[in-house]
Amino acid sequence: MKIDIITIFPEIFDFYLGQSLISKAQQKGVLKIKTHQLRDFTNDKHNTVDDKPFGGGRGMILKVEPIAVALSKLKVQSAKLKVKPRVVLFSPRGKKFNQKMATNWAKQNQLIFICGRYEAIDERVAKNLATDVVSIGDYVLMGGELPALVAIEAVARLLPGAVGNSESLIGERITKTGGFIEYPQYTRPEVVEIKGEKARVPKVLLSGNHKEIDEWRAKHSKVIE
Ligand code: ADE
Repeated sequence: MKIDIITIFPEIFDFYLGQSLISKAQQKGVLKIKTHQLRDFTNDKHNTVDDKPFGGGRGMILKVEPIAVALSKLKVQSAKLKVKPRVVLFSPRGKKFNQKMATNWAKQNQLIFICGRYEAIDERVAKNLATDVVSIGDYVLMGGELPALVAIEAVARLLPGAVGNSESLIGERITKTGGFIEYPQYTRPEVVEIKGEKARVPKVLLSGNHKEIDEWRAKHSKVIE
C-alpha cells in the first residue's frame, strides 16, 4: 500500500513514521509512506498556501489551488500504475473514523491524505477534490497531521505482514464483520502493590482452565467494529 500525505508540516511525520512497526512495515515493502510539502505546489515567490476568508471573519483559510495541483501530480503517477486512490481530507466536520473504515482503507492500493491547517480549508477541497472527509472525533485540533497519523496506525496494523504477530492480531480476536475483540490482559507479577493496596491478576487467568478463561474474556470483551 502507498500512502501519500499532503501537509505543510512534513517533519511531524518523519520521527514518528521512522519508529517502531511502521518503519519495519516500510522496510519490508508492505507499506510505502511519502510526505509532500504543500508549499512546493504554489507558484508565487512566498509560497503562499492561505488567504483571508470571503465574507470576512477571523483566521486564514487554506487555499484550494495548491492542493488541486498536488493532487493532479500525484494522480498522474497513480494513473500510470492504474491505481484509483482514495483522497481523504481530515476535518472535524467529516464522517467519524472507525474500525470499519480502517478495514476498508487497508484494502486500497493507494491513500492520499490531505492535512488541513489554519482556521479552515476552502470548502471546494471537500466538495470537488476529496473522496472522503473524515474526523477522528468531536474535538477541534490545530491540523490534520495527528488525524493522519491515527489513521495510518489503524490501517497499517491491518496490512498482511505489517505487524510482527499478525496471526495473534487477526486470529481469534477478529469478528465476522472484520471488527476486533478487545479484553483486559495481564502479565507478571501476579500481585503488585499500588497505592498501598494489593492489585491482583484475576484468579481465573492463572487457573489454566481454558474454557473458563474464554468465558471470562467473552464477559469482559469490548467489540470494536
Ligand atoms: N482537524 C482538526 N480537527 C480534526 C478532527 N477532530 N478530525 C480530523 N481532522 C481534524
